[in-house]
Amino acid sequence: MGYFRENVEKARAYEPGFQPKEANVVKLNTNENPYPPSPQVMKALAEVSAERLRRYPDPQANEFRQAAGQVHGLPSEYIMCCNGGDELLSMAFRAFCDETRPVAYPVPTYSLFPVLAKLQNCKPIEIPFDSEFNLPAKLAGTDAALTIVCNPNAPSGTFVAVEELASLADEVSGVLLVDEAYVDFAEVNCIELVKNFDNVIILRSMSKGYSLAGMRFGYAIAQPDLIAGLMKVKDSYNVDAVAIAIATAAIKDQKYFKGNVEKVKAERARLTIQLRKLGFDVPDSQSNFVLAKCKNCKADQVYEKLTQRNIYIRYFAHPGLEDKLRISIGTPEQNDKLFSALQEILAE
Ligand SMILES: Cc1ncc(COP(=O)(O)O)c(C=O)c1O
Repeated sequence: MGYFRENVEKARAYEPGFQPKEANVVKLNTNENPYPPSPQVMKALAEVSAERLRRYPDPQANEFRQAAGQVHGLPSEYIMCCNGGDELLSMAFRAFCDETRPVAYPVPTYSLFPVLAKLQNCKPIEIPFDSEFNLPAKLAGTDAALTIVCNPNAPSGTFVAVEELASLADEVSGVLLVDEAYVDFAEVNCIELVKNFDNVIILRSMSKGYSLAGMRFGYAIAQPDLIAGLMKVKDSYNVDAVAIAIATAAIKDQKYFKGNVEKVKAERARLTIQLRKLGFDVPDSQSNFVLAKCKNCKADQVYEKLTQRNIYIRYFAHPGLEDKLRISIGTPEQNDKLFSALQEILAE
């Protein structure tokens, strides 16, 4: 066409997971929470007034920043709200990277990173994980302006110890962004790092643990100077009034949130055992999905056959993932349907 910057012309758009229209499907392909959001969320939604909609929202969403600060034991200046965790990733690329300022991350990981690198015209330094998804030592020695570690990693679900990320934060010359979109399902997190390092940004999402993927709300946690710099990059009103009200109600209801997380973790343990019994290699997951490696089957064929049965999971034809299936944790009923279908398919 010629209208776009060369990078945009050449970029391949990110491919989000398929969103089937039919209700009667088992949808385990985009890591949504299988349980509904807190009743407090629905109450807050019903109470949104016409006046709140008529006016622009608080540009900094301070109501949410205060609630999140209380949950994390940090002043609200450490928090910046965004329109989903994905928006924080876009902001970080725009804030830190360009032609002379590369980004580095271990692979395989979230497939949005190379797309954002291409759009920002910065070099992606991709360093492979080993077969057990240990953090590659070389990641510390790059000249990247931005290093990203997704922890728990997607799509492996594996977890890098907080101490290792503390060492990485100490060693990198630029900013370390720890993408904790899935950390609600892990045992520990990296929040302590922001107290000790002025170059660490933590990404949080309300899409997974809080069951709010349809709403689009995430946030950054970092020292106030980094937050102030990121604020310069964000749209003035990047999160809307309804989202602020709902996200605040959700994060305040920690009891409900923790209950749902425990249910997902219990099913994750059950599904992992079942998949291993069927002959899949499944690393222990700290997230709300598992990555199952086919030992005696072809992953793309299993994926197709599950799709034909209206069971949606995710297959990535990317290096290192061709023999693997990523399966979000569903309700016990959904996981039972998946298990029965897999039994049938593998017996064919
Ligand atoms: C690794 C990772 N990071 C960040 C996000 C962004 O999540 P959201 O924009 O829904 O908050 C996702 C979404 O799936 C993800 O998988």
